[in-house]
Amino acid sequence: MFDWQITDHKRLEQLEVRHAQELFQLTDQNREYLAQWLPWVDSVQQPDDTVDFIKQTQKQWVENQSFQAAILVDNNIAGTIGHHKIDWQNQKTSLGYWLGKSYQGRGIMTKCCSEVVRHAFNKLDLNRVEIYCAIDNKKSRAIPERLGFTQEGSQKETIQLKDKFKDRIIYRTLKSEWNSSA
Ligand SMILES: CC(C)(COP(=O)(O)OP(=O)(O)OC[C@H]1O[C@@H](n2cnc3c(N)ncnc32)[C@H](O)[C@@H]1OP(=O)(O)O)[C@@H](O)C(=O)NCCC(=O)NCCS
Repeated sequence: MFDWQITDHKRLEQLEVRHAQELFQLTDQNREYLAQWLPWVDSVQQPDDTVDFIKQTQKQWVENQSFQAAILVDNNIAGTIGHHKIDWQNQKTSLGYWLGKSYQGRGIMTKCCSEVVRHAFNKLDLNRVEIYCAIDNKKSRAIPERLGFTQEGSQKETIQLKDKFKDRIIYRTLKSEWNSSA
């Protein structure tokens, strides 16, 4: 289990069942806004659904497949960030993230993403990190763009959100491309 200080006010804590109630509340309070972009939101209807999700992330951690962390801002959960799954054979991973609406606009996710990418290259020795965004998710796309990722291409009608198929943009950075000061 890890607890990772990012700045004086922000830290990442590996998701544990003790986070479930607060994380569920944040999800529930931000349901409408999150569901625009995250297909899993409707499946989270009660705190036990968040407990199940956290247990699944712990299993993946034990199996060395990924980590998922709560982002804490002044000790309150603001959102989450983590790997979808690490592909050790090809030394690559992709990142997923979200913030409660009121935590947007302060650079919190850009900073956390930058730290998680740095960790992927320097500590996990991965070679490639990807971020996938729905084509019209401007705020999410701004994060890899701010961090100097390369837009590699798009996939037609790959994500279904609110009964609509959307194109997805793929961003990547490689260990050889990553600017550690980003
Ligand atoms: C995607 C998401 C995390 C982006 O949140 P965000 O607050 O825009 O991202 P950041 O925390 O990096 O903040 C960037 C904003 O803070 C501002 N900012 C302030 N200080 C900053 C700093 N030091 N560094 C970077 N940006 C800073 C930026 O200008 C930007 O604001 P703008 O959009 O008005 O230009 C959020 O919108 C979200 O959770 N959406 C729903 C779920 C989702 O879409 N997840 C991704 C699925 S692919």
